[in-house]
Amino acid sequence: MKQIIIEGNHILTGKIEVGGAKNSAVALIPAALLSDDIVTIDNIPNISDIDALNEILEYLGAKVVHNDKVMIIDSKNINNREIPENISSKLRASYYFMSALLGKYKHVEMYFPGGCSIGARPIDQTLKAFEQLGATVIEKNKKYIIDAEELRGCTIYLDMPSVGATINTILASVRATGETIIRNAAKEPEIVNVATFLNNMGAQISGAGTSEIRVIGVTRLGKGFTEVIPDRIEAGTYIIVGALVGNNLEIANIIPEHLEALLFKLREMHVNYKIKDNSIIISRAIDMKPTRVKTLGYPGFPTDLQQPLTSLLVHCNGVSTLEETIYENRFKNVDYLNKMGANIDIVNNQKIKITGPTKLIGTEVVATDLRAGACMVLAGLAATGKTVIKDVDHILRGYENIIIKLTNVGAKISLEEK
Ligand code: EPU
Repeated sequence: MKQIIIEGNHILTGKIEVGGAKNSAVALIPAALLSDDIVTIDNIPNISDIDALNEILEYLGAKVVHNDKVMIIDSKNINNREIPENISSKLRASYYFMSALLGKYKHVEMYFPGGCSIGARPIDQTLKAFEQLGATVIEKNKKYIIDAEELRGCTIYLDMPSVGATINTILASVRATGETIIRNAAKEPEIVNVATFLNNMGAQISGAGTSEIRVIGVTRLGKGFTEVIPDRIEAGTYIIVGALVGNNLEIANIIPEHLEALLFKLREMHVNYKIKDNSIIISRAIDMKPTRVKTLGYPGFPTDLQQPLTSLLVHCNGVSTLEETIYENRFKNVDYLNKMGANIDIVNNQKIKITGPTKLIGTEVVATDLRAGACMVLAGLAATGKTVIKDVDHILRGYENIIIKLTNVGAKISLEEK
């Protein structure tokens, strides 16, 4: 078991370069299978979720060249065989293979996807879209068998703006006959990244980034190239690090407009920062005001940053509230923050109340999921004494080279095998 050890309360200065977005890359790689030619994806992050997707590509017989940040995928001769549970369950995004294979071959067999345990996370909207496009879905013993004689464009209304269902519907409809309209689509930048990639291969998708996306089916997709957009959640996490322990800490390679919900919230809390082109420079904030945060789909405050932000809210002067509207079980970090000395009440499974300021003291904590793990790293960086974080594989799934990036700016942090 790996663990992260942090000796806290050191001031960090220098530059952190943000990598490619996990939640884009994990959709772009399965999307590559829709091409009948060779595609190239640049700025791939160095995280273990990518290794899990590579395993699926290789299992299906795709030819993959992966050098540093560039991945070249040739899926001309893949073998569309059943994706077994031991690989489908490694991550949530494995279900993008389900829609890509269905879109290309009109048949797919795959076991349930995995992902962080932060709520029920059903995939009913994706399955509904497949059925409306003309597929038959059989679900048996945790396995899906999905077939279609023909996928036919239609209008699909999503009950909620789900990122996964929006991307899955695009992937399944891009080679369908006729036009598909997705209403109440999610608007996350990662969806725009996927649509742009597919359009580069010859797809006809418009409206990505708005709540109505139109896909005119094409018979073939060819060569394609894209670059993974900067990871706004990794960027947001390091911006919060800057507010906690930075001294002119520069977070580079970001798209500031993707981070507006966090940046405006920080201003409200009296955290100062400067935006310079594609960088933010931020220093430790003192005398922060408490605030109210409610997570929403993009451009609202991202659920993936609420746990990292909680590590900052404990230092505000007064009572802050944080409402989680996307997931039912995303407060597993709270017990561990309280163990470190925070004063957080769980009002109900969607709301917490944080009374500050409190001083955190290092102790042994657990990364129960990816973003809870990030919260623990941030709490540890600002705490006095030594923090030991267990189960850190969750963190390594989504934060590339986190130990190196933080060490380079002066953090006392290490990864140990125990
Ligand atoms: N939902 C349904 N039915 C569906 C789909 C979603 O009820 O068919 C519900 C979910 O249970 C959840 C909400 O709708 O309560 C939103 O789910 P969404 O589908 O938008 O999330 P996702 O696609 O499963 C992606 C990211 C998550 C991120 C969310 C929201 C990937 C691989 N995962 O998940 O990332 O939290 O969008 O932005 O892209 C993370 O990076 O830590 C992470 C969990």
